[in-house]
Amino acid sequence: MLTNKLNTFRRYCAQASNTFYATTPIFYVNAAPHIGHLYSAVITDAICRYQRLRQPEQSLHLCTGTDEHGTKIQQAASVQAVPVAQYCNDISARYREVFAEAGVANTDFIRTTEGRHKQAVAQFWRTLNAREHIYSAAYSGWYCVSDETFLTDSQLRLDTASNTRFSLESGHPVEWTEETNYMFRLSNLQDDVLHWVKQGGRIRPGKFEKILLDMLSEPLPDVSVSRPTNRVHWAIPVPDDDSQTVYVWLDALINYLTSVGYPDEKFRSYWPPNVQVIGKDILKFHGIYWPAFLIAAGLEPPQQLFVHSHWTVDGQKMSKSKQNVVDPVVAAKTYTMEGLRYFLLREGVAHSDGNFSNVKALRILNSELADTLGNLLSRACAKSLNPRQVYPCLHAVQLDDLLRMDATKRLQDALQQIEARCAQHYADNNFYLVVDTVISTLHAANNFFETARPWELKRPLATGGTDADAANARNIENFERLETIIAMTMDTLRICGIVLQPIVPQLCGKLLDKLAVPQEQRLWRNLGECCFAMSPSISASNENVTRPLGARTDAVLFRRIQLDESELLAAGQAYKLQEKRHTKPDGEENTNKQTKQKSNKKAGKSKKVAL
Ligand code: MSP
Repeated sequence: MLTNKLNTFRRYCAQASNTFYATTPIFYVNAAPHIGHLYSAVITDAICRYQRLRQPEQSLHLCTGTDEHGTKIQQAASVQAVPVAQYCNDISARYREVFAEAGVANTDFIRTTEGRHKQAVAQFWRTLNAREHIYSAAYSGWYCVSDETFLTDSQLRLDTASNTRFSLESGHPVEWTEETNYMFRLSNLQDDVLHWVKQGGRIRPGKFEKILLDMLSEPLPDVSVSRPTNRVHWAIPVPDDDSQTVYVWLDALINYLTSVGYPDEKFRSYWPPNVQVIGKDILKFHGIYWPAFLIAAGLEPPQQLFVHSHWTVDGQKMSKSKQNVVDPVVAAKTYTMEGLRYFLLREGVAHSDGNFSNVKALRILNSELADTLGNLLSRACAKSLNPRQVYPCLHAVQLDDLLRMDATKRLQDALQQIEARCAQHYADNNFYLVVDTVISTLHAANNFFETARPWELKRPLATGGTDADAANARNIENFERLETIIAMTMDTLRICGIVLQPIVPQLCGKLLDKLAVPQEQRLWRNLGECCFAMSPSISASNENVTRPLGARTDAVLFRRIQLDESELLAAGQAYKLQEKRHTKPDGEENTNKQTKQKSNKKAGKSKKVAL
């Protein structure tokens, strides 16, 4: 029966394939943004950026914003002694700023206090009411203000000492509430929701589909969708009944419709959303209430919910009371916002919680962005090796010869697989695997560079004397070999830069600018043009292309993060210095010790250290 209903929806809600719609949850303004919030936003942004790389012609909409109504916001404003509207303005602006700084390219930032949203909520309510999904009833139950939800007995834990009940899932206290509410006939829609979930691939990763199916194995009770205005006044009034305000979760979920223009018919060009990114704590609201509300209103539920797990800090849940909440603005002072974004997407795994630790962040950023990626670019652009500052051409004879080396073969292998592998990882939103693939390609490139030893080719032989011709020929050969090594290195960097754009867009922009890659050649389809990894004919046709490097971008992509001892102590971490291989700016090999001594001298500080 639901299949019929869905087919009918599809006929008049047909999703035009030239649009793509992705959403983040909207964020409560009861506290400032932390890295967990940023994580939801950068995942969504990376999904959209990948979509743009694949289909630049498509109209793409990425909606994020703030969730501003309800008791908990009322309370937070009163604790700060600030008028609630002003309080919302301030915190909402902080979210907007952090996301902008982190390169989140949202096309809309919605606030539930906006007029357009109030209009959408009123229309949606009227539709539910007209379709007889809402009724009025006396209601009593345990309400959790922090979670903004009623909970059943089985979802509670009783602390006998204080005789207080707490939500089992979130740990927050609940209060007994008796009031007259409007109720939504969720119980009628259980089969429909189940059918939607069971269509496969709706809820990803699969672990969360199972969790949702478990929740759906119990009969669903009807849910309260309003609160008395005298209890919750900071909310949207129920149409035609000022004594009640709309339940904050119904209000919040409708933001996804508001953002694409609902109730104006134009919203249908983006409906249903292709992917809605949410954290695991809000699965019930998005996996049960949301599809039920939509089906009740005659609209199609989202094509996919992508659910991510949470960040802990040094193994502990982030919380104000533990004072371990990681503020992205503060963290970015050490790691840069781009570094933080890289860390979150590189370390975060959707199906299990991730642990944020300073030691790990420093190690990863220094070893991957500074040493592996950044250093390779600096070496290829070093004036001593590349005095003309060009992205040089390949020379077929030298290329042939270099391709005989094992190190080159390994690099060629990695490059031949990078596109297909990363496409699959992006399709699964497994960003950490994209990074793994790119970093191992870059390791192969660094190894190729070391093995090819271009610095030995840079000094011309004297061309006077009896062997002048031979010396001349040798010089040309060396020059062509040097150019070919640099071209192969730069082409690897170009490919890696294109692939990593959804993850670190600003850093890759800088890399591709330095390599003078035109904007229109930074798309996924341009990966097929790798000059030496594909076919010899492509390599040959690339032979005569030499272009100047971007002069305005410096070649230092990511500076190694160095903290002094007091900063390390402040971070409370036992740092262990490691001897790592590092390189001099002219491309020759060096040790970490030498580089550290050099940079410490430059910085004028005696005890700067890096991991
Ligand atoms: N306002 C609701 C969502 C309404 S959507 C119609 C809400 N807001 S929230 O600010 O509490 O959470 C927003 C997002 O941040 C959720 O996806 C949540 O899972 C995510 N995170 C909150 N803490 C987190 C971590 N510690 N780690 C990762 N993500 C976390 O819920």
